[in-house]
Amino acid sequence: MALIIDGKKIRDHNLAIMKKEVEELNSKNIYPCLCVIIVGNDPASRVYVNNKKKACENIGILSREYALPTDTETSELLALIDKLNNDEEVSGILCQLPLPVQIEEKTVLERISPEKDVDCFHPYNVGKLVQGDAVLKPCTPNGIITMLDYMGYNIEGKNCVVIGRSNIVGKPMAQLLMERNGTVTVCHKKTIDLKNITSRADLIVSSVGKPKFLTADMVGEGAVVIDVGMNRDENGNLCGDAVYDEVEKKASMITPVPGGVGPMTITMLMKNTILAEKIKN
Ligand code: GUN
Repeated sequence: MALIIDGKKIRDHNLAIMKKEVEELNSKNIYPCLCVIIVGNDPASRVYVNNKKKACENIGILSREYALPTDTETSELLALIDKLNNDEEVSGILCQLPLPVQIEEKTVLERISPEKDVDCFHPYNVGKLVQGDAVLKPCTPNGIITMLDYMGYNIEGKNCVVIGRSNIVGKPMAQLLMERNGTVTVCHKKTIDLKNITSRADLIVSSVGKPKFLTADMVGEGAVVIDVGMNRDENGNLCGDAVYDEVEKKASMITPVPGGVGPMTITMLMKNTILAEKIKN
């Protein structure tokens, strides 16, 4: 039976600390402020954006939403970003992905000033991350590190296997694990004999996006399993990549879905917004 890594509990612990920090900043007339841009009507994006605004409200961070129509042009979005980059009251800017097809995503993400890039998607911040000098760290991977720290798990020297090589999770996760002196293997669609690699891991971070992908035979006895998957099962229920009931019997620690990694991503967004405001001051 694995120990369950409770993302909601760890979120609440961290948000309570941040709430006090925001109160202290406010007492010095410093007001962290997050701007969230959403383009179009993607229902999942709407839920995420609402949750981000709610988290801000809960800990006293100011938030502004900019909701733009689906047919917005790249130039219009860039004009808004320029305005927010130059707005002294804005600490952080987040442009919710995915963007409609006509918008040049890379151009948009590169326009956000690196000091206000609370997602850590700007190439400058990605470069800083690779050099081990990041101030703003990518939210989901940093949330996972925060969870492991909370659980008292020491990454140093561990055989860490990341499944998935996306820019948002897999690649930055590998960087943060290396920063903590983990020995990191990144697996992906073309990996040969994945099971052979994962079954020898001390720590598995699965960011694949397929229900029932991570089966018990892929997990070694006592491994720590971090499930980043956000999928729907055949009944429409939210589930991760792991076959939870099976994997949980072999793992020493595991994150559930929902209630694992998800709550930590927004928590780290709050952390980055506060940090971005502090850098500005
Ligand atoms: N869409 C899904 N995840 C994310 C995220 O972490 N940041 C942004 N901006 N958009 C997303």
